[in-house]
Amino acid sequence: MLPRITTVYKYGFCATLGFLIIMIYMSQSRHSRTAKRPFDRLGREMEIPVKSNRHYLQVEQKRSAEFQAFKTKTNENKIIKSEFPISSTQKIISPHNFDYIINEEKLCDNETFLLIYVHTAPGHVRHRNVIRDTWGNANNIKDISIKLIFLLGNASTRKLNDAIKFESEHYHDIIQEDFVDSYRNLTYKGIMGLKWVTNYCKTAKFILKTDDDIFVNIFILIKHLKARLEHDIGTSNLILCHIWFRMHVVRDKRSKWYISEAEYEPNVFPPYCSGAAFVLSADAPKAMYKRSLYEPFFWVDDYFISGLLATKAGLVREKFNRQYSISPMQFIEKFLHPISLEQQLIFGQAVNINQILRVWKKVLEFMKTLNKNTEHSRGKLIDDNRTI
Ligand SMILES: *[C@@H]1O[C@H](CO)[C@@H](O)[C@H](O)[C@H]1NC(C)=O
Ligand SMILES: *[C@@H]1O[C@H](CO)[C@@H](O)[C@H](O)[C@H]1NC(C)=O
Ligand SMILES: *[C@@H]1O[C@H](CO)[C@@H](O)[C@H](O)[C@H]1NC(C)=O
Repeated sequence: MLPRITTVYKYGFCATLGFLIIMIYMSQSRHSRTAKRPFDRLGREMEIPVKSNRHYLQVEQKRSAEFQAFKTKTNENKIIKSEFPISSTQKIISPHNFDYIINEEKLCDNETFLLIYVHTAPGHVRHRNVIRDTWGNANNIKDISIKLIFLLGNASTRKLNDAIKFESEHYHDIIQEDFVDSYRNLTYKGIMGLKWVTNYCKTAKFILKTDDDIFVNIFILIKHLKARLEHDIGTSNLILCHIWFRMHVVRDKRSKWYISEAEYEPNVFPPYCSGAAFVLSADAPKAMYKRSLYEPFFWVDDYFISGLLATKAGLVREKFNRQYSISPMQFIEKFLHPISLEQQLIFGQAVNINQILRVWKKVLEFMKTLNKNTEHSRGKLIDDNRTI
């Protein structure tokens, strides 16, 4: 019996070893396939070793070259005109004339580079605090003026409205309008943002819209936007975003996103952007806001703002899909991976706000590594004095 058992173990051991070797080989070859198309797929954290600083530097240089090529390409097809001018006989049908409950009229100035407006629910004070402390903090980047605001409607209770007032007195980054803050009123919030920028932040070079559960690698974003400005590419008529192509209209009555045929007839939406995050050029908010006055209210805000209004305002929808991690389940995996830098991953939707804190720490580490390598040639991206 005994020798037999040993034989069984031996065979078992050999088989397991063989299996392991095959698995390792397969994962390696998968890895090398991925390496050829580094932007399409991601390995898990363990599969790809942490790269050296030198490697990141090379990635940076490669990216600059790609940007030059991109610049040439974009310049070639730059002619964009609004195809839907507002005629003089058209009547305003959707005046967005809610009063401000809270406003910050003097927030922007002519130095403002980026204005960030965040759609947030009244009760989400913790979400707002995390954004204030992490990627939305104006002190992250030296020599660049970033302004952050949160957009709210009227909360359902007096107590909540008082808390918001208190929060606003502390941070001065809250804008509140007097419409009922609800899911079906998100289109009002979208228009509110466009209107506010039109009236109080005309000078910002770029505008970023996000939701309060979104993470932004602000360092990469700013670098990208600065490059656009320096090379004067895609700096006007622009909505830069994750484009949805042929998104189906939900006809299932049980769904939160159910849309009846009376509300919207086609079964497929024309291209529009993920509302999670998009970037607008300085001129876009005004053009979109003006358009909104002539369009009937439609509660599906992502489509209404970044699809219908953007198209009618004659904006160019520029595909930025590779810079997004849309699935919350993949957020941690993608952003905690060193390769996220290489991919220039910028926007991610988190499952919860603790994940945003975690990812932010990691991003700061990455950026510091990069800085150490590039500060002599390029100047600093991050303020080393800030505390995490
Ligand atoms: C901003 O405005 C101030 C005064 O309003 C002016 O002195 C300054 O030159 C302006 N800066 C820029 C960059 O336009
Ligand atoms: C906001 O909503 C409350 C009810 O929650 C209502 O009493 C109030 O008039 C609304 N507007 C303002 C400006 O507070
Ligand atoms: C949207 O806001 C308007 C204005 O405050 C309000 O009359 C309406 O009931 C709100 N709709 C929903 C679905 O909350």
